[in-house]
Amino acid sequence: KTSPRMREVMTCMIKHLHDFAREIELTVDEWSEGVALMNWAGQMSTDRRNEGQLVCDVVGLESLVDEITYKKAAEAADYATQSAILGPFFRHDHPTREKGATITFNTPDDGQVTYMHGVVTDAVSKKPLANATVDVWQASTNGLYEQQDENQVDHNLRGKFVTDENGEYAFYTIRPTPYPIPFDGPAGKLLKLLDRHPYRPAHIHLIVMIDGYKPITTQIFDKDSKYLDDDSVFAVKDSLVVEFVPRKDDSKAEYELKYDMAMAPN
Ligand code: DHB
Ligand code: FE
Repeated sequence: KTSPRMREVMTCMIKHLHDFAREIELTVDEWSEGVALMNWAGQMSTDRRNEGQLVCDVVGLESLVDEITYKKAAEAADYATQSAILGPFFRHDHPTREKGATITFNTPDDGQVTYMHGVVTDAVSKKPLANATVDVWQASTNGLYEQQDENQVDHNLRGKFVTDENGEYAFYTIRPTPYPIPFDGPAGKLLKLLDRHPYRPAHIHLIVMIDGYKPITTQIFDKDSKYLDDDSVFAVKDSLVVEFVPRKDDSKAEYELKYDMAMAPN
């Protein structure tokens, strides 16, 4: 059934679509090309590939609604960890792993192992939060997420961690590398049309949740990565840029990344 909000959203969208067609004097042929692009996106989409979302992302729509949603939700915006877009490669079934476990299983030789850790806190009281879940996922150094790549084991570079009594989470992963969004479909065609490249800066995805607080979907970006200023999907925010530092006294990791997250109470 139609909610009042849905009516409002659709009425406004139709108004703007008509205004757009009038302003640009859109022809039947041009409109047909748009329809074909939408159909192509639908046909390409599978469990493993969300092409409709990708198309929205290259025109900045997901990052725009992320910004609007965040502004609406949080007076806490000044002190809670900032959000960023979900992107198309999240899976709902990340395995829960022990604190300090690794999420890199069959990583290529060029993967630089990193110990990532930090504290989840209440953004207001600054107190650590035990039993928060930290969901993490990232692409391998070949630029592919595990579900795009037959050569990676299921759930490679993914995991769900629960903070301990001190609010701490920790795991081993690899330092992420820049990566092109899939550009063999309509999103890639749009990028070409606009003379843009498909690359995203090196990033790690995170979702942090705990009862009583607003969940945070975000990404963190390596400060030394290329494409911080021209992310193909417009997701970078200054506060989400992090520094990987050399790791001392740990034969298992070359780099260390400390990242704390602050949650806004409901
Ligand atoms: C998109 C986001 C990602 O994090 C990614 O790795 C690829 C694509 C996107 O927004 O389309
Ligand atoms: Fe990503």
